[in-house]
Amino acid sequence: MSGIIFGKEGWTPKRLDNLTGKTYVITGANTGAGFEASKLLLSKGAEVLMLNRNPLKSEAAISNLKQEFGVGAKVGFIRMDLAELDSVRTAANQVIVSVPKIDALICNAAIAQVPKQKFTTDGFESQLGVNHYGHFLLCGLLFERLEATNGRIVVVGSEGYKMGIKTIQFDDMNWDKNYNPMHTYCHSKLAQIMFAYELQDRIKAVDRHVGVYVCHPGASATSLIKNSGGLKDRIIFGLMSITPLVQSAEKGAYPEVMCATEAERNLNQKAYYGPTGRMQWTGPVGECKLEPFAQDKEVATKLWKISEKATNFKWNF
Ligand SMILES: NC(=O)c1ccc[n+]([C@@H]2O[C@H](COP(=O)([O-])OP(=O)(O)OC[C@H]3O[C@@H](n4cnc5c(N)ncnc54)[C@H](OP(=O)(O)O)[C@@H]3O)[C@@H](O)[C@H]2O)c1
Repeated sequence: MSGIIFGKEGWTPKRLDNLTGKTYVITGANTGAGFEASKLLLSKGAEVLMLNRNPLKSEAAISNLKQEFGVGAKVGFIRMDLAELDSVRTAANQVIVSVPKIDALICNAAIAQVPKQKFTTDGFESQLGVNHYGHFLLCGLLFERLEATNGRIVVVGSEGYKMGIKTIQFDDMNWDKNYNPMHTYCHSKLAQIMFAYELQDRIKAVDRHVGVYVCHPGASATSLIKNSGGLKDRIIFGLMSITPLVQSAEKGAYPEVMCATEAERNLNQKAYYGPTGRMQWTGPVGECKLEPFAQDKEVATKLWKISEKATNFKWNF
C-alpha cells in the first residue's frame, strides 16, 4: 500500500527526482492545483505545456513562472476550451505538433457547482461537458502519442463523486428535470472517475500500454468555487478556506504530481489517491477509500458508449 511506501508523511514533493527531459501536459493550469502542479514540475526541470481557455490568464501565469524559474523555464500554453469540442480537437492537434513526447497528460481543469443549468457549445450540461466529455475526447485524441512515448493519464477527480446521486443519470444527462449545482458537479466528477477505471480495463483487454491513475486534491484553497460557483457557495467555501478543513492549493497539487511522476511500481492503477486525513480532505497523500459504485462495470460501459456518441469520437478499443 502507498501509505507504507511513502511513510507517515505521505507523498510529498521531496520524492521528486530531477525531471529534465520530461514533458507534462496539464489542463487548466493557469491557476489553482494545476498551476501549483506546474510549479512543482518546473522546479525539477520538466517541460510543462498548459491547455488553458484564457490567453490573458495563461500569459500572466507563464510570466509568473518565468519570474520564479527563469526566462529559460520550459513552460507554454495552447488555448483549449473544454466547453467546445472543436477547440479540444484543434488543441490536441497543436499538442501533437508542439511536443514530441508526453510523459503525463493531467486532466485537471474543471468547473464546479455552477448555480444554474448551462450548456457547452455542443449542448451538454456545462459541468458534464467540460469536466467529463471534454477530457474524454482529449484523452482519446492524445492516446496514440501517449502510448508511443510511454506516457500516462492522470484523472483529477473529487471527493464530490460520492456526494451526489452516486450513479450516472442516463435518462437525463443534461439534468433538465432536477438540476442541482452540487449534485450535477458530483455527477460530472463521478463520470470522470468511472471513465478512468473503464479506460484501464479497456487498455488491458487489448494489451495496450498507457497507465491511467485517479486522484483527487481533497479540499484545497483554489479559485474553483470563486470562478464558477454561486454566491452562497462562494461565501461558504471562502469561510471554510480559512479553517484547517481546507489545505493550500499547493498541497492540493501533490496527488496529481505524484500520479504523474512516481515510479509505476509504487502506484496501483485501481487505487484512488489523495489526502488520507480527516474526511480525506486534508492530510498525508496516499491511497484513499473508494466507494464500489465508482467502479460499477455496467454503468461504466454504458457511460463509455454515451460519451463516444456525445463527442463523436470512437476509441480503437
Ligand atoms: N479545490 C478543491 O477543493 C477541489 C476539490 C475537489 C476536486 N477538485 C478538482 O481539482 C481540479 C483543479 O481545480 P482547482 O481547485 O485548482 O480549481 P481552479 O483554481 O478553478 O482551476 C481550474 C482550472 O480549470 C480551468 N477551466 C475551467 N473551465 C475550463 C474550460 N472550459 N476549458 C479549459 N479550462 C477550463 C480554469 O480556467 P480559468 O482560470 O480560465 O477559469 C482553471 O485553470 C479540478 O478537477 C477540480 O474538480 C478541487
